[in-house]
Amino acid sequence: MKVYFDNAATTPLAKEALDEMLPFLTENFGNPSSIHGYGRKSRAAIEKARKIVAAAINASTAEVFFTSCGTESNNMVIKQAVKKLGVKRIISSPIEHHCVLHSVETEGKEGIKTEMVSINSFGVVDYDHLESLLKSSDEKTLVSLMHSNNEIGTLLDLERVSALCEQYNAYFHTDTVQTIGYYPMDVQKLKVHFISGSGHKFHGPKGVGFVYINSSAQLSPFIDGGAQERNMRAGTENLYGIIGLGKALEMAITDMAPTHEHISGLRQYMKSRLDNELADVSYNGFTDDRGHYKVLSVSMPLNNKTDLIVFNLDIAGIAASAGSACTSGSEVGSHVLSGIKAPTDRKAVRFSFSKHNTKEEVDYVVEELKKMVPVKELASVK
Ligand SMILES: Cc1ncc(COP(=O)(O)O)c(C=O)c1O
Repeated sequence: MKVYFDNAATTPLAKEALDEMLPFLTENFGNPSSIHGYGRKSRAAIEKARKIVAAAINASTAEVFFTSCGTESNNMVIKQAVKKLGVKRIISSPIEHHCVLHSVETEGKEGIKTEMVSINSFGVVDYDHLESLLKSSDEKTLVSLMHSNNEIGTLLDLERVSALCEQYNAYFHTDTVQTIGYYPMDVQKLKVHFISGSGHKFHGPKGVGFVYINSSAQLSPFIDGGAQERNMRAGTENLYGIIGLGKALEMAITDMAPTHEHISGLRQYMKSRLDNELADVSYNGFTDDRGHYKVLSVSMPLNNKTDLIVFNLDIAGIAASAGSACTSGSEVGSHVLSGIKAPTDRKAVRFSFSKHNTKEEVDYVVEELKKMVPVKELASVK
């Protein structure tokens, strides 16, 4: 059996998205900037996708810009907020995705003040600490905090942070790469200046993302060149990528409620089987609705099997992840797990689900895990 439980790293492309993309890889190849019929057809398809994204987050189409990925969107916001908006201080957290953390670090080296808000052992932001940081200075500030952590799933209280940012006149950026298409987002209701999204996290193609930039916080381009994306992001558009992102997001929004229910059910089912059948299991982050319903970060005792658990699971045909995909190739431990002070004598595995996963797959994974970690004595199994 082959099981893909690494959907926080990436998701399979939706067939419907591929079907919409294919003609734009073949006969509809016009450059969207060309004024002839070929170009106009491509332009119309991009604008259709922009409308879908704008509707999904309740923004105006003028506030949505396509980029090459979530990483570019986050870099663009952080670096251009400093350049264009005169941001002098950035407040972020130690468990952000590296594309945010490293961008913040880069700005720190350029003389921008950077401050890290405290988080607790579940990865929850200390909102009082955030307020005290905001209160402590009048310097123009950007707050950059992710909506859902990609390794442990912990969710940010967006309303609370946006209210604080409004009260202290700070710009608010939230990395929504893991939540776009999974949770409702309304940028009219939420006072947020910037959010980011990435096609491949919601069954769209890889190499395409978007950034929402509130009209009150206009940035300058991150990439210089032609006038694409209304002068905000130069370079001939990733036409078929944008079309695929649009279709995949449309489907994610339409199916959001049943997807939520299905995936949450799988997560709870897996957790209860693990709790009942493994002798020593715990979790990083939350396992209820304070954490993303697609993420279950399991913590197990370290032994000769769990030491290389991701490889051992792979041999059994199961795709899971030790930390985020971006760091799993490196020897450095997860900055998220060390950020929440997860015990170093235990092994963490992130299982992340999609709408395609099934209970039978969970059963298979649990049975395989039971070969690698101590199981409960039969008499004590509930
Ligand atoms: C929270 C978060 N932000 C940003 C990114 C980067 O997105 P992309 O892969 O599109 O560059 C990821 C991808 O893993 C992510 O999980």
